[in-house]
Amino acid sequence: MKKIAVLTSGGDSPGMNAAIRAVVRKGIHEGVEVYGVYQGYSGLMDGKLIKLELGSVGDIIHRGGTILYSARSEEFKKDESQHRAINQLKDLGIEGLVVIGGDGSYRGAAKLSEKGFPCVGLPGTIDNDIPGTDYTIGYDTALNTVIKSIDKIRDTATSHDRTFIIEVMGRHAGDIALFSGLAVGAESIIIPEIPYEIQDVVDKLKTGIKRGKKHSIIVLAEGVCSASELAKELMDNYQLETRISVLGHIQRGGTPTCFDRVLASRLGARAVELLIEGKAGRAIGMEKQEIVDYDIVEILKKRDSLPEGVYTLSKELSI
Ligand code: ADP
Ligand code: F6P
Repeated sequence: MKKIAVLTSGGDSPGMNAAIRAVVRKGIHEGVEVYGVYQGYSGLMDGKLIKLELGSVGDIIHRGGTILYSARSEEFKKDESQHRAINQLKDLGIEGLVVIGGDGSYRGAAKLSEKGFPCVGLPGTIDNDIPGTDYTIGYDTALNTVIKSIDKIRDTATSHDRTFIIEVMGRHAGDIALFSGLAVGAESIIIPEIPYEIQDVVDKLKTGIKRGKKHSIIVLAEGVCSASELAKELMDNYQLETRISVLGHIQRGGTPTCFDRVLASRLGARAVELLIEGKAGRAIGMEKQEIVDYDIVEILKKRDSLPEGVYTLSKELSI
């Protein structure tokens, strides 16, 4: 394999740049030319590719976002669009593609692999919702952004004796909510994976107030409901006043943590090795500190799970 390409797709995540850098530098180290695709699958269909040199990826390892930009494209889900994308790659003599993105982007990579074009998927999403890896690139940075934000909110919550509902991202996954909630000592954590009773949340708040607590923090995963819906329910049915804070896209930006940069560098380099070894249609991840790879179609059939016991622990510690 003498020419490969790399793209970033779906929601961006801090560390995507470090992954692009690793793909380019490892590729060049192995004597392979590397092309960058702008704007994910959308740019791929339109032939927006550029040859990347060693210097093209200088000074980016510490930057959030993605120098290749990202996109979501409904159009790419059509068979004919996927053929168009493959033709763009073939026209430039490119023989393999590294896709950095979330599960939707993996589905796209799986489709291209099924159509005979070798692809490798790298988990780039803050949601940490991809099976076959303990961590996705950007998740650790997002967690750190969330806990810094909640720590600040706790300051003002204490001053005013208030209960805050903090809505965090994660799409259908509760990883960000669960782990940030444990890290900030949240009074309640509400995630999609574990059914909750509103009465439990209310009891917890009331017990805290009786015990003289100056504030309470509820961390709510966006996959359950919105913070305003929960606030309305607490007010209308239990006369409990809350303030809400929706952290939003702040969770997707910022300089990647050491963990994310190292993860991205290791996964990016391994992606290039796999393509050179002729192993296509693979999804790369890190499990127990080892770099692993699985069939990308099989990975998409699995469900990502949360480590057992962490939710229970958060309840035990937030009494
Ligand atoms: P993420 O990769 O972060 O999960 P999305 O779910 O938006 O983000 O997916 C990113 C892009 O991947 C989509 O806009 C689309 O172009 C492509 N994609 C998603 N699902 C499929 C699919 N079933 N077939 C082909 N391409 C897909
Ligand atoms: O997948 C990453 C993510 O940030 C999710 O946590 C969130 O639900 C979604 O993307 C937001 O997407 P958009 O940037 O299109 O609003």
